[in-house]
Amino acid sequence: MRNEVSVNFECFSNAADNNKQFIADVLRSLLVSGARVLEIGSGSGQHAVHFVNQLDEIIWQPADKEPYFDALERNLKGISLTGLEKPIYLDVAQFDITERFDAVFCANVMHIISADLIPGLMAGVASLLDGGGLFILYGPYKYQGAFTTESNERFDGWLKANNVLSGIRDIELIKSKANIQQLKLIDDLPMPANNQLLVFRKLDENDNGTVSSF
Ligand SMILES: C[S@@+](CC[C@H](N)C(=O)[O-])C[C@H]1O[C@@H](n2cnc3c(N)ncnc32)[C@H](O)[C@@H]1O
Repeated sequence: MRNEVSVNFECFSNAADNNKQFIADVLRSLLVSGARVLEIGSGSGQHAVHFVNQLDEIIWQPADKEPYFDALERNLKGISLTGLEKPIYLDVAQFDITERFDAVFCANVMHIISADLIPGLMAGVASLLDGGGLFILYGPYKYQGAFTTESNERFDGWLKANNVLSGIRDIELIKSKANIQQLKLIDDLPMPANNQLLVFRKLDENDNGTVSSF
Protein backbone atom coordinates (compact mmCIF):
# COMPACT_ATOMS: atom_id res chain seq x y z
CA MET A 1 0.00 0.00 0.00
CA ARG A 2 1.23 3.50 -0.84
CA ASN A 3 0.94 6.57 1.42
CA GLU A 4 -2.74 7.59 1.60
CA VAL A 5 -3.36 10.81 -0.32
CA SER A 6 -5.91 13.20 1.16
CA VAL A 7 -8.03 15.18 -1.32
CA ASN A 8 -10.94 17.60 -0.90
CA PHE A 9 -13.07 16.08 -3.63
CA GLU A 10 -15.43 18.31 -5.58
CA CYS A 11 -18.69 16.34 -6.25
CA PHE A 12 -17.82 14.09 -3.29
CA SER A 13 -19.91 10.90 -3.16
CA ASN A 14 -20.67 9.33 0.23
CA ALA A 15 -21.56 6.05 -1.48
CA ALA A 16 -18.20 5.88 -3.26
CA ASP A 17 -16.43 6.60 0.01
CA ASN A 18 -18.37 3.90 1.86
CA ASN A 19 -17.83 1.12 -0.68
CA LYS A 20 -14.27 1.89 -1.82
CA GLN A 21 -12.50 -0.43 0.65
CA PHE A 22 -14.78 -3.41 -0.08
CA ILE A 23 -14.19 -2.98 -3.80
CA ALA A 24 -10.44 -2.47 -3.34
CA ASP A 25 -10.19 -5.77 -1.45
CA VAL A 26 -11.79 -7.66 -4.36
CA LEU A 27 -9.71 -5.80 -6.97
CA ARG A 28 -6.56 -6.81 -5.10
CA SER A 29 -7.53 -10.46 -5.53
CA LEU A 30 -8.37 -10.04 -9.23
CA LEU A 31 -5.68 -7.78 -10.64
CA VAL A 32 -2.01 -8.63 -11.01
CA SER A 33 0.60 -6.13 -9.88
CA GLY A 34 1.23 -3.70 -12.72
CA ALA A 35 -2.19 -4.15 -14.31
CA ARG A 36 -3.37 -1.32 -16.51
CA VAL A 37 -7.01 -0.46 -15.77
CA LEU A 38 -9.48 1.87 -17.51
CA GLU A 39 -12.26 3.24 -15.30
CA ILE A 40 -15.46 4.29 -17.09
CA GLY A 41 -17.52 7.01 -15.37
CA SER A 42 -14.98 7.90 -12.68
CA GLY A 43 -17.20 10.65 -11.22
CA SER A 44 -15.27 12.58 -8.57
CA GLY A 45 -12.21 10.31 -8.87
CA GLN A 46 -12.52 9.00 -5.29
CA HIS A 47 -12.33 5.36 -6.41
CA ALA A 48 -9.36 6.08 -8.68
CA VAL A 49 -7.32 7.71 -5.91
CA HIS A 50 -8.21 5.04 -3.36
CA PHE A 51 -7.43 2.11 -5.62
CA VAL A 52 -4.09 3.55 -6.73
CA ASN A 53 -3.25 4.02 -3.05
CA GLN A 54 -4.26 0.49 -2.22
CA LEU A 55 -3.14 -1.66 -5.13
CA ASP A 56 0.51 -2.38 -5.84
CA GLU A 57 1.93 -0.92 -9.04
CA ILE A 58 -1.53 -0.50 -10.58
CA ILE A 59 -1.84 1.90 -13.51
CA TRP A 60 -5.29 3.49 -13.32
CA GLN A 61 -6.78 5.47 -16.21
CA PRO A 62 -9.79 7.51 -15.01
CA ALA A 63 -12.34 8.62 -17.63
CA ASP A 64 -15.64 10.44 -17.72
CA LYS A 65 -17.78 12.88 -19.66
CA GLU A 66 -19.75 15.94 -18.67
CA PRO A 67 -21.14 16.81 -16.18
CA TYR A 68 -18.37 15.18 -14.11
CA PHE A 69 -15.34 15.51 -16.37
CA ASP A 70 -14.25 19.02 -15.35
CA ALA A 71 -14.55 18.27 -11.62
CA LEU A 72 -12.65 15.01 -12.14
CA GLU A 73 -9.81 16.90 -13.83
CA ARG A 74 -9.72 19.51 -11.06
CA ASN A 75 -9.81 16.86 -8.32
CA LEU A 76 -6.89 14.89 -9.74
CA LYS A 77 -4.84 17.81 -11.05
CA GLY A 78 -2.69 18.45 -7.99
CA ILE A 79 -2.20 14.82 -7.05
CA SER A 80 1.17 13.27 -7.65
CA LEU A 81 0.56 9.55 -7.32
CA THR A 82 2.52 7.03 -9.37
CA GLY A 83 0.11 5.00 -11.43
CA LEU A 84 -2.68 7.57 -11.47
CA GLU A 85 -3.07 8.75 -15.06
CA LYS A 86 -4.49 12.09 -16.22
CA PRO A 87 -8.26 11.70 -16.81
CA ILE A 88 -9.44 11.20 -20.36
CA TYR A 89 -12.78 12.16 -21.85
CA LEU A 90 -14.92 9.12 -22.60
CA ASP A 91 -18.59 9.04 -23.56
CA VAL A 92 -19.64 5.42 -24.01
CA ALA A 93 -22.01 6.60 -26.75
CA GLN A 94 -18.90 7.28 -28.87
CA PHE A 95 -16.42 4.75 -27.62
CA ASP A 96 -13.26 5.95 -29.37
CA ILE A 97 -10.38 4.58 -27.27
CA THR A 98 -7.83 2.41 -29.04
CA GLU A 99 -5.33 1.66 -26.22
CA ARG A 100 -5.15 -1.80 -24.63
CA PHE A 101 -5.98 -2.47 -20.99
CA ASP A 102 -5.76 -5.50 -18.70
CA ALA A 103 -9.09 -4.64 -17.10
CA VAL A 104 -11.95 -2.18 -17.29
CA PHE A 105 -13.74 -1.04 -14.12
CA CYS A 106 -17.11 0.70 -14.05
CA ALA A 107 -19.08 1.58 -10.90
CA ASN A 108 -22.64 2.86 -10.73
CA VAL A 109 -22.92 3.72 -14.40
CA MET A 110 -25.22 1.02 -15.82
CA HIS A 111 -28.30 2.37 -14.02
CA ILE A 112 -27.48 5.93 -15.14
CA ILE A 113 -26.96 5.46 -18.87
CA SER A 114 -29.88 4.54 -21.09
CA ALA A 115 -30.22 0.83 -21.90
CA ASP A 116 -29.61 1.44 -25.60
CA LEU A 117 -26.00 2.46 -24.80
CA ILE A 118 -25.22 -0.90 -23.16
CA PRO A 119 -24.44 -2.87 -26.37
CA GLY A 120 -21.97 -0.18 -27.51
CA LEU A 121 -20.40 -0.05 -24.07
CA MET A 122 -19.87 -3.83 -24.09
CA ALA A 123 -18.43 -3.73 -27.63
CA GLY A 124 -16.11 -0.88 -26.64
CA VAL A 125 -14.93 -2.64 -23.48
CA ALA A 126 -14.29 -5.90 -25.36
CA SER A 127 -12.29 -4.04 -28.01
CA LEU A 128 -9.80 -2.84 -25.35
CA LEU A 129 -9.18 -6.24 -23.75
CA ASP A 130 -7.14 -9.21 -24.89
CA GLY A 131 -8.34 -12.73 -24.09
CA GLY A 132 -8.32 -13.17 -20.30
CA GLY A 133 -8.88 -9.45 -19.69
CA LEU A 134 -11.45 -8.51 -17.06
CA PHE A 135 -14.48 -6.25 -17.04
CA ILE A 136 -15.48 -5.44 -13.46
CA LEU A 137 -18.88 -3.87 -12.91
CA TYR A 138 -20.14 -2.52 -9.57
CA GLY A 139 -23.75 -1.54 -8.95
CA PRO A 140 -27.30 -2.72 -8.20
CA TYR A 141 -29.03 -5.23 -10.49
CA LYS A 142 -32.37 -7.04 -10.82
CA TYR A 143 -32.52 -10.83 -11.10
CA GLN A 144 -35.31 -12.34 -13.25
CA GLY A 145 -37.04 -8.98 -13.08
CA ALA A 146 -36.98 -8.80 -9.27
CA PHE A 147 -35.21 -6.21 -7.15
CA THR A 148 -32.87 -7.69 -4.55
CA THR A 149 -34.19 -5.32 -1.87
CA GLU A 150 -36.98 -2.80 -1.28
CA SER A 151 -34.44 -0.01 -1.04
CA ASN A 152 -33.18 -0.87 -4.54
CA GLU A 153 -36.79 -0.71 -5.78
CA ARG A 154 -37.18 2.74 -4.22
CA PHE A 155 -33.86 3.79 -5.74
CA ASP A 156 -35.08 2.63 -9.17
CA GLY A 157 -38.21 4.78 -8.78
CA TRP A 158 -36.09 7.76 -7.81
CA LEU A 159 -33.77 7.23 -10.80
CA LYS A 160 -36.69 7.05 -13.23
CA ALA A 161 -38.33 10.13 -11.73
CA ASN A 162 -35.12 12.02 -12.52
CA ASN A 163 -34.55 10.47 -15.94
CA VAL A 164 -37.02 8.11 -17.55
CA LEU A 165 -34.15 6.37 -19.39
CA SER A 166 -32.29 5.52 -16.18
CA GLY A 167 -33.05 2.55 -13.94
CA ILE A 168 -31.65 -0.58 -12.36
CA ARG A 169 -30.88 -3.13 -15.09
CA ASP A 170 -31.71 -6.81 -15.31
CA ILE A 171 -28.58 -8.88 -14.90
CA GLU A 172 -29.85 -11.10 -17.74
CA LEU A 173 -29.69 -8.09 -20.10
CA ILE A 174 -26.18 -7.21 -18.96
CA LYS A 175 -25.02 -10.81 -19.36
CA SER A 176 -26.55 -11.23 -22.81
CA LYS A 177 -25.00 -8.02 -24.17
CA ALA A 178 -21.66 -9.03 -22.63
CA ASN A 179 -21.82 -12.56 -24.06
CA ILE A 180 -22.24 -11.21 -27.59
CA GLN A 181 -18.82 -9.57 -27.12
CA GLN A 182 -17.19 -12.74 -25.73
CA LEU A 183 -17.34 -11.38 -22.19
CA LYS A 184 -18.40 -14.20 -19.84
CA LEU A 185 -19.61 -13.66 -16.30
CA ILE A 186 -17.23 -15.56 -14.03
CA ASP A 187 -18.23 -14.12 -10.65
CA ASP A 188 -21.17 -12.32 -9.07
CA LEU A 189 -20.17 -11.06 -5.64
CA PRO A 190 -22.67 -9.52 -3.20
CA MET A 191 -21.35 -6.21 -1.93
CA PRO A 192 -22.44 -3.70 0.72
CA ALA A 193 -25.43 -1.41 0.21
CA ASN A 194 -27.32 -3.99 -1.89
CA ASN A 195 -24.90 -3.87 -4.79
CA GLN A 196 -23.09 -6.57 -6.75
CA LEU A 197 -19.60 -6.78 -8.16
CA LEU A 198 -19.87 -8.58 -11.50
CA VAL A 199 -16.66 -9.96 -12.98
CA PHE A 200 -16.56 -10.73 -16.71
CA ARG A 201 -13.63 -12.38 -18.45
CA LYS A 202 -12.94 -11.95 -22.13
CA LEU A 203 -12.70 -15.34 -23.79
CA ASP A 204 -9.58 -16.21 -25.74
CA GLU A 205 -9.10 -18.76 -28.48
CA ASN A 206 -8.32 -21.48 -25.92
CA ASP A 207 -11.60 -21.07 -24.06
CA ASN A 208 -13.75 -22.54 -26.84
CA GLY A 209 -16.74 -20.99 -25.11
CA THR A 210 -16.38 -23.46 -22.24
CA VAL A 211 -15.39 -21.03 -19.50
CA SER A 212 -17.77 -21.56 -16.58
CA SER A 213 -20.29 -18.79 -16.25
CA PHE A 214 -23.30 -17.99 -14.07
C1 LIG B 1 -23.60 7.80 -10.28
S1 LIG B 1 -22.16 8.42 -11.04
C2 LIG B 1 -20.96 7.21 -10.51
C3 LIG B 1 -19.61 7.81 -10.32
C4 LIG B 1 -18.56 6.86 -9.71
N1 LIG B 1 -18.23 5.80 -10.62
C5 LIG B 1 -19.05 6.31 -8.39
O1 LIG B 1 -19.28 5.10 -8.28
O2 LIG B 1 -19.21 7.11 -7.47
C6 LIG B 1 -22.44 7.96 -12.76
C7 LIG B 1 -21.26 8.28 -13.65
O3 LIG B 1 -21.57 7.84 -14.98
C8 LIG B 1 -21.07 8.81 -15.88
N2 LIG B 1 -21.74 8.69 -17.17
C9 LIG B 1 -23.04 8.94 -17.45
N3 LIG B 1 -23.27 8.79 -18.78
C10 LIG B 1 -22.10 8.40 -19.33
C11 LIG B 1 -21.70 8.11 -20.67
N4 LIG B 1 -22.56 8.20 -21.71
N5 LIG B 1 -20.40 7.78 -20.89
C12 LIG B 1 -19.52 7.72 -19.86
N6 LIG B 1 -19.84 7.99 -18.57
C13 LIG B 1 -21.12 8.34 -18.32
C14 LIG B 1 -21.39 10.12 -15.17
O4 LIG B 1 -20.68 11.21 -15.74
C15 LIG B 1 -20.97 9.76 -13.76
O5 LIG B 1 -19.60 9.96 -13.54
